[in-house]
Amino acid sequence: MQKILDAIMADELDTIGELPVPDTYRGVTVHADEVEMFAGVPSRDKDPRKSLHLDEVATPELGPGEALVAVMASAINYNTVWTSIFEPVSTFKFLQRYGKVSPLAKRHDLPYHVVGSDLAGVVLRTGPGVHNWKPGDEVVAHCLNVELESPDGHNDTMMDSEQRIWGFETNFGGLAEIALVKANQLMPKPDHLTWEEAASPGLVNSTAYRQLVSTNGANMKQGDVVLIWGASGGLGSYATQFALNGGAIPVCVVSSPEKAEICRAMGAELIIDRNAEGYRFWKDEETQDPKEWQRFGARIRELTGGEDPDIVFEHPGRETFGASVYVTRRGGTIVTCASTSGFMHQYDNRYLWMNLKRIIGSHFANYRESWEANRLIAKGLIHPTLSKTYELAETGQATLDVHRNAHQGKVGVLCLAPEEGLGVRDHQLRARHLDKINRFRGV
Ligand SMILES: NC(=O)c1ccc[n+]([C@@H]2O[C@H](COP(=O)([O-])OP(=O)(O)OC[C@H]3O[C@@H](n4cnc5c(N)ncnc54)[C@H](OP(=O)(O)O)[C@@H]3O)[C@@H](O)[C@H]2O)c1
Repeated sequence: MQKILDAIMADELDTIGELPVPDTYRGVTVHADEVEMFAGVPSRDKDPRKSLHLDEVATPELGPGEALVAVMASAINYNTVWTSIFEPVSTFKFLQRYGKVSPLAKRHDLPYHVVGSDLAGVVLRTGPGVHNWKPGDEVVAHCLNVELESPDGHNDTMMDSEQRIWGFETNFGGLAEIALVKANQLMPKPDHLTWEEAASPGLVNSTAYRQLVSTNGANMKQGDVVLIWGASGGLGSYATQFALNGGAIPVCVVSSPEKAEICRAMGAELIIDRNAEGYRFWKDEETQDPKEWQRFGARIRELTGGEDPDIVFEHPGRETFGASVYVTRRGGTIVTCASTSGFMHQYDNRYLWMNLKRIIGSHFANYRESWEANRLIAKGLIHPTLSKTYELAETGQATLDVHRNAHQGKVGVLCLAPEEGLGVRDHQLRARHLDKINRFRGV
């Protein structure tokens, strides 16, 4: 592994294909024999530092259409929180199910799960049938893993009946020194970014792109008022940028003055601090409080000059969904990709049907949307929102930060990269955008 890293550091990328791929590598795992370790513990108190391990694991055999990548950096996504607390189900169930698809997929069904759905790194090897990528290429990877053997996904690859999220529903993820991906997950690494910056947008940037911009999502247009929950978080920090970039008007919901400040730094003007304003959409576990929906809606109108959101960018789920449906304008769209606070939603359907609103389910992004989202990063039109970077051995702590909502934007992880700040090729483009690239740092 050291020889591979030395070659990358010395910029001798054309030698990478000649260097042997190690039989084992270090990866962050959960263990199948520990899935009950948090039984009876409330979700909030389940500690990823206990369930995430840094193990030496066997390098998987490389199959047709695949690539092995030396991972320089990765990032924490909320799916690693879910994996590490074994909620809502253990991800070993996904691996077992995937293992039944084909002999090649069977490799993923192991008693350990190497997690992580983002990476920036260097291609080590490509499998048979891969022609567009070669050892030594600097890449990022999106996390859409599909088989595409059924016609379902031939128009929109997210519709494939065997659609999975790499590093969550498959093994050999990005929080490791080596990762196994399908070659069509690979995309060029943006030249003006460091390894850890390049690794951080992938999953959330692509997801927010489909959810908000794509015709498969809310199909946002100029002038739309877009209510964005968690506007300084992983998804929200990209949704806010897409809204501003596309001429829409974001109304950013956050929970602290620091987070409000970050939204201002991105260029947003209409901001709601949900904590300071004390919204309580639920009176108790079972009963919502429509008066609070009304108070929230009135606040949005106060900020927008009387307008209701054309689009609500939803992901907190149970806690906010009733309010989201209520505040959306007549004919508007609630687009949801998650349920962080609970997946059994409750809302008053009268507000939906009488006002002709639509709820759209959205999940990650298809190949094309992922590529388009990465292109925006590479062109310096959308910027990484990296706030902090941890070592690979500290992935448990990094995941705990996200679990506790103690982070801003994205939390990065150095895998093979020995320090931050490496991997930049286009210094000119970087210099033009440095302030924006760094706006989540040190908040
Ligand atoms: N379907 C997909 O493809 C997909 C892709 C990415 C993520 N997700 C899911 O989307 C969710 C968010 O992911 P993320 O990466 O954006 O996470 P994140 O970085 O933790 O950001 C989420 C933000 O939502 C806000 N939030 C959390 N709980 C809330 C609540 N009860 N009420 C109101 N706001 C709340 C918080 O912001 P404030 O505290 O500042 O309000 C938080 O910063 C997760 O459940 C994740 O699994 C799904």
